[in-house]
Amino acid sequence: MVVHNGIFENYLDLKRELADEGHIFNSQTDAECIPHLIESYMNNGCSLEEATRAAASRIDGANAVVVLSRKEPDKIVSFKLGNAGGIVIGYGESEMLLASDIAALLPHVRTVAYLAVGEMATVTRKRVQYTRIDGSAVKKSTARVSYGALTATKGEYKHFMLKEIHEQPDAVLDTLRGRVQFDPPGITLPDFPFSDDRIRSFNRAIIIGMGTSLHAGMVGRMWIESLAGLACEVDNSSEFRYRDAVLDENTLVISISQSGETADTLGAMDLAKSRGARQLTLCNYEGTQSTRVADGVLPIRAGLEISVAGTKTFVCSLVTLYALAAYLGVKRGYLSEERLANIVQELLHLPEMIGQLLSDQSQYERLALKYGRRANFLFLGRGKNYPLAMEGALKLKEISYIHAEGYPAGEMKHGPISLIDRKMPVVALVPQDDLYEKMLSNVNEVKARRGSVVAVAAEGDKHISEKADEVIWIPKASANITPILNAIPMQLLAYYIAVERGCDVDQPRNLAKSVTVE
Ligand code: G6P
Repeated sequence: MVVHNGIFENYLDLKRELADEGHIFNSQTDAECIPHLIESYMNNGCSLEEATRAAASRIDGANAVVVLSRKEPDKIVSFKLGNAGGIVIGYGESEMLLASDIAALLPHVRTVAYLAVGEMATVTRKRVQYTRIDGSAVKKSTARVSYGALTATKGEYKHFMLKEIHEQPDAVLDTLRGRVQFDPPGITLPDFPFSDDRIRSFNRAIIIGMGTSLHAGMVGRMWIESLAGLACEVDNSSEFRYRDAVLDENTLVISISQSGETADTLGAMDLAKSRGARQLTLCNYEGTQSTRVADGVLPIRAGLEISVAGTKTFVCSLVTLYALAAYLGVKRGYLSEERLANIVQELLHLPEMIGQLLSDQSQYERLALKYGRRANFLFLGRGKNYPLAMEGALKLKEISYIHAEGYPAGEMKHGPISLIDRKMPVVALVPQDDLYEKMLSNVNEVKARRGSVVAVAAEGDKHISEKADEVIWIPKASANITPILNAIPMQLLAYYIAVERGCDVDQPRNLAKSVTVE
């Protein structure tokens, strides 16, 4: 029996060869070819391990495979080719476990190891032997996972997503722990891989990621520009990996992947490496593939996240990026002591502000009843909150299946405005920053066309409550920190609408927590 994740690129050639040998196929899948190939080597006298090794060396493409055979029932053999699918091995008491994701193992084990590309594991009940596919030995170190088994249960919550939303104040505290000093104000990033001279030599940064991680990167870019004075671009990993990006050793590539196993981000990191860029990765799990490729890791420390829709990993990625931008700003001599002191002061209050946003959720239930049956939603934001409009739309479409678009509000006149009528709810992010007046005029434009406006605005903003149909209040905060706070209403709105519509919140259709094939 074979469990397969990936794309077996040359399977048609091998299938023809095996069919000529007399193998009978029951499907058109590439996966079915793998057990036949292994069986063919076993028929010629190979053991399960030898046969799997021989088969692995003939498979092209990125594939993660687990193999079992009735002929050797006390063994599981697994291998990983290219960046497809994680294989995590859990060390239990008198048992060994294999899974594609650490979340499945956590109720049972705390010690794990990850298979790297080109590696094989032969697992029996009490031990595991690691080799490369060419047969050479591998010395593997294990990682101890600090998240308890309890975190893999829903506890008092109806869904993992809601539980994970509620865990954010604590998760943010963990992200900040040991990184922010208050007296004197400072940001420390232990294990930061680059020297101060190297940091000063960077003339540009490029942030890459997918999905929610990409949206975190879009905000991170603006922080790096404004706090560190470093030119910064942001790109979707799946685009970046196939374009002719111009990179050199003075380029800092920052990848964001909570799982550390997203195929496109890993592909983009390989490209960056081959072109000599320096790399930093933000990740939630130690020992995953992205942490092995990068020169250094900034753990986001969100704790285990099970729900497919990212919530606390998004917020913890944002907080890590904010700390990184401030750190780079200090090292580059760009961030004044006064600005740093303000940043540190506000970070001190961040978990409390997030807690405040979570304290009363009745408003979201009401909004879900009012708007949950609409067919379309528009999310608008500007500046650092434009990526939050994208994230709000993504969360809503992921879990409630409502069509939603996130736009920079300035684009409204270039198309989306034609969609606005009394059936269109528009979620407008209107923090009191230097783009406030411009957002207010966008709200006016929506109202003039009879759209409904749900504004997300700073407590005490009287203008907005006169204009919008509904207002979700966020605590007063600096413009820099509003995207982190605005993440919470985006999550709660999507969550309550999905619940109202009876959707499978934690496991939305067609989506996966980590997309390990491109
Ligand atoms: C999938 C998940 C998203 C996630 C994206 C990137 O699409 O459903 O929630 O944002 O992958 O994942 P990563 O692990 O690289 O952050």
